Amino acid sequence: MPIKLNNTKNSLNYNNLCKIIKKHNTPIWIYEWEIIKKKIKLLKQFDIIRYAQKACSNINILKLMKKTGLKIDAVSYGEIKRALISNFKPKKDEIIFTSDSIDEDTLNIITKKKITVNAGSTNILKIIGKKKKRHKIWLRINPGFGNGHNKKTNTGGVNSKHGIWDIKKALILIKKYKLKLIGLHMHIGSGANYNHLLKMCKSMIKNIIKVNIDIKSISTGGGLPIPYYYKEKEINIKEYFKIWNNTRNYIASYIGHNITLEIEPGRFLVAQSGLLITKVNIIKKINNKKFVLIDAGFNDLIRPCMYGSYHHISVLKSKNSERNKEKYIICGPLCESGDIFTQDPKGNIKSRKLPKIKKGDYLIFHDTGAYGSTMSSNYNTRPLIKEILFKKGKAYIIRNNQSIKNILKLEQNCKKIKF
Ligand code: LLP
Repeated sequence: MPIKLNNTKNSLNYNNLCKIIKKHNTPIWIYEWEIIKKKIKLLKQFDIIRYAQKACSNINILKLMKKTGLKIDAVSYGEIKRALISNFKPKKDEIIFTSDSIDEDTLNIITKKKITVNAGSTNILKIIGKKKKRHKIWLRINPGFGNGHNKKTNTGGVNSKHGIWDIKKALILIKKYKLKLIGLHMHIGSGANYNHLLKMCKSMIKNIIKVNIDIKSISTGGGLPIPYYYKEKEINIKEYFKIWNNTRNYIASYIGHNITLEIEPGRFLVAQSGLLITKVNIIKKINNKKFVLIDAGFNDLIRPCMYGSYHHISVLKSKNSERNKEKYIICGPLCESGDIFTQDPKGNIKSRKLPKIKKGDYLIFHDTGAYGSTMSSNYNTRPLIKEILFKKGKAYIIRNNQSIKNILKLEQNCKKIKF
């Protein structure tokens, strides 16, 4: 649920945000560590919490997470490097590389550092097996169905590129290359609707019985939703754990020994800890519409454009926020007509009722801690923006603005390729 900015128990409050914008140019990502810590605590019943860093991968946040005992999921060479620099130890299985494919650099680092692989295809098993026998692996199973807050975030079923369908074939390859099977993993989608939960648990059991394999662990994947609207409820973690714990116990008694239960959340841990602060540059009145042009675009926050995702918006300067509401269309500065933050999943432009907005006001986008900064780009040659973290009431710059000079540098001093 979007946090209230007048709640001074949080560091993400009106006074602190005003202090930040006095000293720093917007747009800026702001996070609060204590909110992340509270979310981690909620999942402590699980044996292992493996954070899906794709949601928010700033190494300063990863280092704090490591200190709380979290393990980590990486999905690229870059994410493996982030995990290593944040002190996660491959030998203790603190890093798992999840993927359906693999490139040469990643193959080299996972075999050199002995990083366990969560294989989403039988092809990847072959590639790893040929390079190094006895490598530790998990199998990511596609259970034949999926779900997500949007069809683009559904990762199961026949239209998904993810996961292994033919578990028998996977086991043949495991035997052939003497790979060490650790566990079975399922992730059906991000922001899933938990009517699918029982179905997922049954599928996990069915797959294990079907091939009669011995494993040490199961992973529920990620996908836990968060309430982006005030009207939505928080997910019932106790109930979620209970259902998975029963599944784990059933599997353990079938196999004949204890097995560990992992969870792999991204959004759940970080979404609510983050805000995006933006400034209103221009208000354009066209016919009966008011287009508010702010200084952040979909190069910064892409979720509304990509999925039609809703983010609650507060107007920082308006204290009489409940009065004088007007309808606005909130837009970015990009030279692209789709650069609009208030649109539905079909791409229809929507207006939002907000307290009266003036040029120079600050608009705050809520719940942007997950898939905010990590999905940003340099479109329209706009640099990546600053990230600030509040911890115990103090603010730290955890990423500086990228400079245009830095972006352009990669294109200078071009060399002729000799064939
Ligand atoms: N594990 C695997 C294998 C995944 O593919 C993902 C997310 C997660 C865990 C974490 O899922 P979460 O707990 O965050 O739902 N960009 C989209 C979300 C894409 C998620 C991709 N995979 C968004 O902004 O909503």
